[in-house]
Amino acid sequence: MLIDHLKKTDHRALTKWKHYFQIYEREMNRFLNKPISFLEIGVFKGGSIPMWKDYFPKGSSLTFIDIDPACKDLEIEGTQVRIGNQADPDFLAALAQEFGPFDLILDDGSHISQHQIKSFENLWPHLKNGGLYMVEDCHTSYWPGFGGGYRNEASFIEYGKRLIDTMHSWYTDQDDLFPFQPMAKELNSVRFFDSIVAIEKLIKTEPPASLYSENGQTRVSRKALEVRGRVSIFAGKDGTQPPEKK
Ligand SMILES: C[S@@+](CC[C@H](N)C(=O)[O-])C[C@H]1O[C@@H](n2cnc3c(N)ncnc32)[C@H](O)[C@@H]1O
Repeated sequence: MLIDHLKKTDHRALTKWKHYFQIYEREMNRFLNKPISFLEIGVFKGGSIPMWKDYFPKGSSLTFIDIDPACKDLEIEGTQVRIGNQADPDFLAALAQEFGPFDLILDDGSHISQHQIKSFENLWPHLKNGGLYMVEDCHTSYWPGFGGGYRNEASFIEYGKRLIDTMHSWYTDQDDLFPFQPMAKELNSVRFFDSIVAIEKLIKTEPPASLYSENGQTRVSRKALEVRGRVSIFAGKDGTQPPEKK
């Protein structure tokens, strides 16, 4: 188990909340079958570098970034550390060019909402189809000193909640209020844990459809989305129509 790594730490201190280990196992399990491209924002004393190296399959590309130039010395064999600001789009573009696209991105950097959003928006296009973007220590979204505060629209938690709306923007009846958001085509799930938001990318090549199956015959219906453009006319129902009787 990942938490067993704590028995193996050396002078390079590792700092993570205890309950994260369970979330990591649950979310990252599916990245253990073949080498992946991983990016962690935030190095500090370097303790997570050997942990992730041990955890992910041999041959994975493991990239770490930090704003502190001293972190460069914490690089170990088979990993790469780059120095830069997680809120700097040029730095992130160069990073993605060098090491992307990524399967898994973990933001454990400044924990300032504005930075978390900047990194997310600049790195999301460099996340692979099927990839996962995790932002941790999101409790800072409730701290004014980190650009947060309860229901502060500018916080990352509130940003994450809006991604839930984006994911469902296929379905809304209220085009004036909330038009279709193209990012809905890429969002498969937005999962909220205590202090961690995990956003999963899965590119949809066609709009959502409902299935109606009877006597072994299955019909695919997009009526709910097609009848008035994408706007549902079925207020509250799932839009499925039974097959016409012959
Ligand atoms: C919580 S520590 C990282 C801990 C490390 N991931 C671990 O598991 O032990 C946060 C790190 O983010 C770095 N940081 C702060 N602001 C940053 C920024 N704007 N861009 C990149 N890194 C930043 C800090 O220098 C610090 O080393």
